[in-house]
Amino acid sequence: MKITIICENTVGRRLGLGEHGFSAFIETNAANYLFDTGAGHSVVKNSLELNKDLKTINKIFLSHGHYDHTGGLPEVLKLKGKVDVHAHPHVFLDRIHVTKENEKETRKFVGLPYKRKYLELLGANFILNTNFIEVAKGISLTGEVPRKTSFERPDPVLLSEIDGKINQDIFSDDQSLILDTDKGLILVLGCAHSGMINIVNYVMDKTGKDNFYVILGGTHLDFLTEEQREESIKALKKIKIEKIGVCHCTGMRAAFRLQQEFGDRFFYGHVGSSLDL
Ligand SMILES: [Fe+2]
Ligand SMILES: [Fe+2]
Repeated sequence: MKITIICENTVGRRLGLGEHGFSAFIETNAANYLFDTGAGHSVVKNSLELNKDLKTINKIFLSHGHYDHTGGLPEVLKLKGKVDVHAHPHVFLDRIHVTKENEKETRKFVGLPYKRKYLELLGANFILNTNFIEVAKGISLTGEVPRKTSFERPDPVLLSEIDGKINQDIFSDDQSLILDTDKGLILVLGCAHSGMINIVNYVMDKTGKDNFYVILGGTHLDFLTEEQREESIKALKKIKIEKIGVCHCTGMRAAFRLQQEFGDRFFYGHVGSSLDL
């Protein structure tokens, strides 16, 4: 099995293009899969440079509806054609990011930038799930993650529209991918909008397993309060984690903190970083 990060904010080797987004290419003995698609500028280019053939993917998994995880869908579909796309029904919600500078509020659309029909015409066969589901042998999606920790709260600058009403985004659609391997669980996060610890706890609960070979992807740890970041790190240190490879919306400050805590078990998941099992 091999997992390679093909879209990410930073480039760490002399190949690929960085963009604000995330995508991981997963190779198993049985089939290849794509988890998220980046924002659309780098997925095809980077897949070619990294020798990952998007035409070989068997399924696409979407972590949530933000543009930086779904914007590459048309480019992937144009190459692949018909393919199952697993996601939560809220992946299609309209989403907004609010920024405030000198009292001036700016609202930017940050949802899935394409209509469902267009993506279906390109070959997407949407399979929508809200619950924990095994999507292939040994590979599962969390579905909706129960919010249980006291310190993980939603990001106040992210909004979504449900039934014509715009409110703080609760990210029911945020889901992560789990690969059950001989070395332990592999957990691939998109943006961890459900809270990284909520996700890890839920995965342990659903799988009955408590050892993670690797936790990989975006953690959103740098955009919230310091308390949330530090409480999350404290909780993570109590969990059996062999490697932790964060990137994307983790932010540099939180990544450095994790490196301090996890030492050699930490790596930064830049474009092209991979994990061989
Ligand atoms: Fe993201
Ligand atoms: Fe996100």
